[in-house]
Amino acid sequence: MSNGATVEPVIEVHGLWTVFGEYVVHRDLELTVMPGEIVSLVGGSGSGKTTLMRQILGLENPHRGSIKVFGIPLQGSHPALLKKIRRRWGVLFQEGALYSALPVFENIALPLRELRAFDEGFIHDMVMLKLDMVDIERRHAWKMPSDLSGGMIKRIALARALVLEPELLFLDEPTAGLDPDRSESFVRLIQSLQAKLGFTVIMVTHDLDTLVSLSDRVAVLAEQKILFYGSLAEVVAVGHPFVKNFFLGERGLRALAAAPEQMYVPAQTVIRNSSGG
Ligand SMILES: Nc1ncnc2c1ncn2[C@@H]1O[C@H](COP(=O)(O)OP(=O)(O)O)[C@@H](O)[C@H]1O
Ligand SMILES: [Mg+2]
Repeated sequence: MSNGATVEPVIEVHGLWTVFGEYVVHRDLELTVMPGEIVSLVGGSGSGKTTLMRQILGLENPHRGSIKVFGIPLQGSHPALLKKIRRRWGVLFQEGALYSALPVFENIALPLRELRAFDEGFIHDMVMLKLDMVDIERRHAWKMPSDLSGGMIKRIALARALVLEPELLFLDEPTAGLDPDRSESFVRLIQSLQAKLGFTVIMVTHDLDTLVSLSDRVAVLAEQKILFYGSLAEVVAVGHPFVKNFFLGERGLRALAAAPEQMYVPAQTVIRNSSGG
């Protein structure tokens, strides 16, 4: 690599093995994400995408290998240090959208309350600012999640993920369950917030339109590792069956036709990890 500046990666996964019983999910997996990047993680169902996110969040234990986030190793670091780094990321997972028993306000306030460091006035202001940020009117603050549309729930969950002003955002299938229009407007929201705030994003998505609009780099999880990692154009050019199926079906080609031109300027060298061993 000929990186002139010494910018530290936000995420560094090295030689990762994830094993459930006899079942090997990740075998010697490598992944590096640089600050400000939007990296999409794609792979077949059950290939280990969510588990990889959970590893990076410190929710699973590597069988072997190491994971660093913000340069700090997740394995062997002091719990107080790990707690500190958890404050520096936000998570938007498909399942854990919102707590149904809490109004919008309390859902967004939750990460702030957990820190026990802010007074009520500050929490109120922060929640309202985050509602503004995701284009939800403040009058919805005291509504219950069941009174809201799927698109609004996603925006509010995003507001909660961003309430601690994270440097890193995890998104697992952010547009799943949204119709194409809502999905497109949610993608535009993520894009504009990322451009404004500059956070790093790692995202799992099956949705090609989402992937094409947002990704700086695409990581393909197949054969238990990140088999290909590069710009969309680079990844699409490899001959792997998963890639062909995923990108070069009718829907894929349509999404790719709408890709911004800069995606076709190879920014980095595609990494081809051999699948031997
Ligand atoms: N806690 C667990 N115990 C046993 N197997 C698991 C556990 N979590 C995930 N798996 C298995 O690991 C594989 C990868 O799962 P997952 O990461 O959810 O896939 P993806 O998100 O790519 O669809 C699946 O076969 C799943 O059944
Ligand atoms: Mg998953």
